[in-house]
Amino acid sequence: MKRPIAAVIGTGRGIPLTVMTNHDFAAIGIETSHEWIVERSGIVERHIAQDGETTCSMAATAARAAMEKASVQAGQLDAIILSTATADRLLPSTAVDLQAELGASRAAAFDIGAACSGWLYAMTVAEGMIATGVAETILVVGSEKMSSIIDWKDRATCVLFGDGAGAVILQRAKTGKGILSSFMRSDGQLANLLYRPAGGAAIPMSAQVLEERTHLVKMAGREVFKHAVRSMSEAADRALDIARLTGADIDLMIPHQANVRIIEATAKHSSIPMDKVYVNVDRFGNTSSASIPIAIDEAMEKGVIREGSTVLMVAFGAGFTWASMIIRF
Ligand code: UT7
Repeated sequence: MKRPIAAVIGTGRGIPLTVMTNHDFAAIGIETSHEWIVERSGIVERHIAQDGETTCSMAATAARAAMEKASVQAGQLDAIILSTATADRLLPSTAVDLQAELGASRAAAFDIGAACSGWLYAMTVAEGMIATGVAETILVVGSEKMSSIIDWKDRATCVLFGDGAGAVILQRAKTGKGILSSFMRSDGQLANLLYRPAGGAAIPMSAQVLEERTHLVKMAGREVFKHAVRSMSEAADRALDIARLTGADIDLMIPHQANVRIIEATAKHSSIPMDKVYVNVDRFGNTSSASIPIAIDEAMEKGVIREGSTVLMVAFGAGFTWASMIIRF
């Protein structure tokens, strides 16, 4: 097992106050039921950002909490890496808005786009920056306002997602704690199974795009489900292999929170019992790249992650992208 290069020294989350339950979909004309949503996904409710709550504002709340716990001032940050599929503006990055909001004047700030796997990608990039001496202290955030890109008329997708942000401070490791292994993969051949067809540079926003709603998320749910289970299982295996650990060495598994059935299948594959798997998809829905850092922060707060806990994280998302990481806390 390698000696950790980078360690998590603080965590935080930024969650909109407004909760939307499964029962609330009837009021917006969606033909669904609480029973269907729970049975197929495990989701009971999700938080939805209101006017004035942005990807940057949720990220700032998460970042401030993480900085406070880490006793790190904004001026000490060498970099801010923000993973998002819902940038507040397409130019510039949301990370620079966050930098301005925090007053982190010394930081290099940039966004990473790898959909639901984005935060693990961002963590791996941050670890590399610390390894090469480019940075000592990095804020790594996942922040998503999924409610801004889902089609609120498509019952197959709109019931699944939620908004929120999670953040950690990553710093050069001084002890045996930190990132033990990481793994990333992508397959762009499958991009059109989960995507926003229009609204970018190839097919810019137009009256037709708005009319046809092609700027909103389209998902082939059943196909995505199959790939998610296969790829997250592979990612879990690879992170364990690289760290020379087995499922029995893992104190807690934190999978991307998209669907409780995907989570159960992935845990089973790695022989990790469900009582060692963190699940909050019932309360948050799928918050894309924010799901893992939100779960880490909750697990720290509840004492589920303790001093010395070995935690396996695994994610899958649009692209397709998939990734995993093992951290000793
Ligand atoms: O973040 C990473 C990427 N995302 C994911 O990992 C999501 C992956 N996919 C899934 O989680 C599941 O595929 C879903 C939860 C999206 C759907 O579950 P499913 O068991 O695969 O259902 P399905 O899409 O095959 O749909 C089954 C039926 C369909 O009706 P018919 O064709 O069987 O008559 C749908 O029209 O359920 C219907 N349906 C709904 N019914 C009530 C679809 N959405 C709804 C709904 N309420 N909201």
